[in-house]
Amino acid sequence: MNFSLTQLHVPQRILISNSQTPKAFKMTRLKTVSLALSCAVALLVLSMNSANAFGQTQPPKLASVPPMGWNTWYAFGCHISADVVRAQVDQMVANGMKAAGYRYVNLDDCWQGSRDAQGVIHPNSHFPDVKALAAYVHSRGLLFGIYSSPGPTTCGGYEGSYGHEVQDARTYAGWGVDFLKYDWCSATSVYRPEQMEDAYLKMHQALVAAGRPMIYSLCQYGMLGVWRWGPQVGAELWRTTGDVSNKIDFQEYERMLFVGFGQAGLDRFAGPGRWNDLDMLQIGNSGLNLDEQKTQMSLWCLLAAPLIVSTDLTRLSSSELAILTNPEAIRVDQDPQGIEGQRVSQVGPLQVWAKPESGGSMAVGLFNSGESAMPVSVDFRQIGFFHAVEVRDLWARKDLGTFEKTFSTKVPRHGVALIEVKNYQSQ
Ligand code: GLA
Repeated sequence: MNFSLTQLHVPQRILISNSQTPKAFKMTRLKTVSLALSCAVALLVLSMNSANAFGQTQPPKLASVPPMGWNTWYAFGCHISADVVRAQVDQMVANGMKAAGYRYVNLDDCWQGSRDAQGVIHPNSHFPDVKALAAYVHSRGLLFGIYSSPGPTTCGGYEGSYGHEVQDARTYAGWGVDFLKYDWCSATSVYRPEQMEDAYLKMHQALVAAGRPMIYSLCQYGMLGVWRWGPQVGAELWRTTGDVSNKIDFQEYERMLFVGFGQAGLDRFAGPGRWNDLDMLQIGNSGLNLDEQKTQMSLWCLLAAPLIVSTDLTRLSSSELAILTNPEAIRVDQDPQGIEGQRVSQVGPLQVWAKPESGGSMAVGLFNSGESAMPVSVDFRQIGFFHAVEVRDLWARKDLGTFEKTFSTKVPRHGVALIEVKNYQSQ
């Protein structure tokens, strides 16, 4: 794996070492001042460029870091109601998830009722007042998401948005919706594959016209290389695969790894405002044991994936909650540079993945998908470090000391070690 030089950014404090003469130091400062001036001019030009044809400045990009939140689907399927959602919202605030950064509360499929004579969509009887529900979510300092399909019906057979895009976007805006997941489902019956981009663009344009900023999340299971055209149809994120949970043969761990490791090569399509979506976190669900849950959290964070968990939050154990809210793993995911990690090595069931972080450090995951505990190693030269480094364990949340050339640790069956590597700084 080759990380480019722009990704392997050298911290400024290394450039200004004590060995510099005062003159050299002055030169460095001069260079810094002139660099700062050029940056300011560049920023000015950039902000001028971001003004649209009417001279208005564009609003800041939505999802500058991967969105974090909760979704109804894997937790409750179609057994959802406004009361269920309110209870989850309360839990998200009380259990520390909101403080850890989880923001979106997203209704998935099955909230829809029918359209009235004017074609306006209404929720079903389990959601007497969606606007009031959204207001409740907002009153708790969170954001509200909803779900529809470009087809006539959703995957669950509920009313889709086909032929009603403008109307639905207006309705969502009126309700105070902040996020739309738009799921292909029955759209195959009305659109040809080459019309898929236009079908997604149509709803984006409707959302823009409705005038309320909403994150636009595409769900079409990675068809037609969506990562190449997702940004052009206005999406902030797009699912790259089918569902992460395979309820057919219950091989949840294998399925999750297949989705996560299957991202190899897609990193260049992700960045601030445009994310590869690997589907939802299964933390809290019975399909994954604790080591497997840590594996999913580590891999999703290294891949700068949206962290949308879908479990019943009122039943989370303290260990599961600790996995979901580990601030050091979340910091890796939410790093403002937004670089998606890449695979560094693979030997049998052992894989190493690394993600460059702001400030020059590198987050590294050492994965063991084997059936017994095994040592897993990373060669620092492979991730761009050629001198002594400091290593921190992000699950134990402690510094492990200084290392040269390699780091090796015993990783449990189906487990992971998540570390952060940075250049050693002498005091
Ligand atoms: C599809 C999607 C899921 C979920 C269901 C709802 O399977 O991939 O994430 O939204 O539809 O019916």
